[in-house]
Amino acid sequence: MTDSDDLAIVVEALTKRYDDLVAVNEVSFTVRKGEVFAFLGPNGAGKTTTVEIIETIRPPSSGRVRVLGMDVTKRKRDIVRRIGVLPQAFSSFDRITVSESIRFYSKLFESKVADVDNLMDLTNLKDKSGVQFKHLSGGLKQRLGIAIALVNDPEIVFLDEPTTGLDPHARHAVWDVLSDLRSKGKTVFLTTHYMEEAELLADTVAIISKGRLVAIGSPDELIERHANNICLTLKSSDAGAVETIRHMGFKPVRSDRNTITVRVTHTEDVQDILNAINSAGVPMPVIDVRKPSLEEAYLRLTEGLRDEGALSEGVAT
Ligand SMILES: Nc1ncnc2c1ncn2[C@@H]1O[C@H](COP(=O)(O)OP(=O)(O)OP(=O)(O)O)[C@@H](O)[C@H]1O
Ligand SMILES: [Mg+2]
Repeated sequence: MTDSDDLAIVVEALTKRYDDLVAVNEVSFTVRKGEVFAFLGPNGAGKTTTVEIIETIRPPSSGRVRVLGMDVTKRKRDIVRRIGVLPQAFSSFDRITVSESIRFYSKLFESKVADVDNLMDLTNLKDKSGVQFKHLSGGLKQRLGIAIALVNDPEIVFLDEPTTGLDPHARHAVWDVLSDLRSKGKTVFLTTHYMEEAELLADTVAIISKGRLVAIGSPDELIERHANNICLTLKSSDAGAVETIRHMGFKPVRSDRNTITVRVTHTEDVQDILNAINSAGVPMPVIDVRKPSLEEAYLRLTEGLRDEGALSEGVAT
């Protein structure tokens, strides 16, 4: 069977067992060429196992996986030539410099050494070219890992948690590289624990939990389907505000003397609450309204959200 031309990856009923443990359980999804596909899930959910099967590193127990139309169990060499991989917790030789590393890996792939300059440009590593790996910061190490993943000019790039443990500046620098890859038409398969990253970068998000795929769609679709809480936070020390909200049938949560948090499902509810507080003569509080987020959808889908209060910072009064 041939895949339609616009599909980079097709996973069908993929299962992986490690003895008694079913790490990946009948997982099916497709990745379109040129998209950023984010793979989310709790620790141990089966993300790396799935990714490594797609990368041809581990064999599946059952099911079928095709990359660029090729079966991962039959065309390993051909697939490896056309993909790039940044493994989880990437590391390299301590004493080898940035440019030496890129050159070394590019020779392994018999790719043109002249591309090293382009790769250092793309990953913004030019002024670090002579620095040894052991002296690079976490963010620079990850950017070097991405450069190495690109030495064979791959059509699909797999990045397993490229920003884990990085500070916000370093994370943004990696995001810039990922945006560049997307604009160059690469397919990016990104594993991450950061919802903001997925929401910002991904065209499609897939969520895996305990080996099973629990949701797939664009960030907006997942939010619309699985997150329905608008979070209204009021800063008011007036006890009347809490009473008014409670009378309306909502369950306000007071996290400290001044902050009241209410979760509602409709924007009209926000307006109704504010009107009621106003009519009750309570001084108008400082307000913050947060729309439903991918994080909320994720927590629901991965059973992290046991009840309404689980997302609240405070104790109900
Ligand atoms: N080689 C292996 N042998 C036996 N069990 C394994 C092996 N690799 C992974 N596992 C188990 O399979 C399950 C899935 O692991 P995997 O590394 O795929 O999860 P993950 O979603 O990538 O987690 P994390 O977010 O922590 O990286 C875990 O229970 C893990 O302990
Ligand atoms: Mg992993």
